[in-house]
Amino acid sequence: MKAFIRHQYGGPEVLQLSQYEKPTPADDEILVKIKALSVNPMEWHILRGEPYFARLTVGLLSPKHKIIGSDYSGIVETVGKNIVDFKPGDEVFGEPFHGSFAEYNAVKIGMIGHKPKNASFEEAACLGVAGLTALQGIRDQGKIRPGEKVLINGCSGGVGHFAVQIAKIFGAVVTGVCSSRNVEFVKSLGADEVIDYTKTNMHQHRGNFDVVIDVHGNLKYSDFKNLTNNSGRGVLIGFTTMSNMMGAMIGGIFGKVKLKSFTAASNATDLAQLSKYVEDGILKVNIDSTYTFEQIPDAITYIEKMHTRGKVAITVS
Ligand SMILES: NC(=O)c1ccc[n+]([C@@H]2O[C@H](COP(=O)([O-])OP(=O)(O)OC[C@H]3O[C@@H](n4cnc5c(N)ncnc54)[C@H](OP(=O)(O)O)[C@@H]3O)[C@@H](O)[C@H]2O)c1
Repeated sequence: MKAFIRHQYGGPEVLQLSQYEKPTPADDEILVKIKALSVNPMEWHILRGEPYFARLTVGLLSPKHKIIGSDYSGIVETVGKNIVDFKPGDEVFGEPFHGSFAEYNAVKIGMIGHKPKNASFEEAACLGVAGLTALQGIRDQGKIRPGEKVLINGCSGGVGHFAVQIAKIFGAVVTGVCSSRNVEFVKSLGADEVIDYTKTNMHQHRGNFDVVIDVHGNLKYSDFKNLTNNSGRGVLIGFTTMSNMMGAMIGGIFGKVKLKSFTAASNATDLAQLSKYVEDGILKVNIDSTYTFEQIPDAITYIEKMHTRGKVAITVS
């Protein structure tokens, strides 16, 4: 099969389009013929092996996984003998963490869900990492209740555009933070208010939000205090600098405003929930741009700028 492989850490230029052995599914795996993919910041973090402490899990001296890529959608080709919920021909999507920059991936149960019937393969491929992060950030970490005032910083990218919509599903009053060019887009997602960070300095802004969700990751602990009138709670999703993140985490443990940080985890229930939101027409995927399989390195170069509106998709076949 065709796959992008890499033997060393580095930028998109270390990805080599090659022929690679098609995987054979284990008893608890499902072999998927991939139709579409999407790219996330985690791909360039794993590609570059940055931040360096991440190499403790992805390979200290050289990368553990030759084929990176997580979010996929496609068609089940064969299933392992322990699989009962999926059969050949099913249309599926998910995020297995690695192995997706290829024509086939063998994915474990829990990292696969049934594709929403009304979604294209490209749209379904955008749901995994960003959708799970938004859902778990709003529901499990933020514990958002109806009527609560929620600020989402970095609300126009992959995670953010899902977070705005999911916070509305949970009944929140949502204020999003993005740049001028995305204000109308974020309003169209259902945000009640939008703050343009090019006109308002978020490090000086004050508010009485119940919850602040920092998707972009540039807020300091003092910002969480100012934005919640020192009486709310916060969720850290992304990060921009280590010092910022460490400061916020330490403040969040000892200060009055409690902050939670987490790494989203795939599970079948949450993939099914995302699929249902899409089928019910209450969660929409905004695709910023679509690349071909051969253009995956270009897609990564594009998303590294961190100004994606919604998601970047890849058409595989
Ligand atoms: N914890 C987890 O499990 C988890 C999972 C997924 C992602 N993440 C992290 O979450 C972060 C966001 O991921 P993503 O997929 O949403 O990225 P993305 O699709 O690249 O979105 C980036 C967004 O950030 C916004 N942005 C840029 N500068 C900003 C600023 N100064 N203030 C506010 N917003 C700003 C951009 O909006 P404008 O174009 O309007 O500037 C853009 O829409 C990344 O750091 C990623 O690594 C964490």
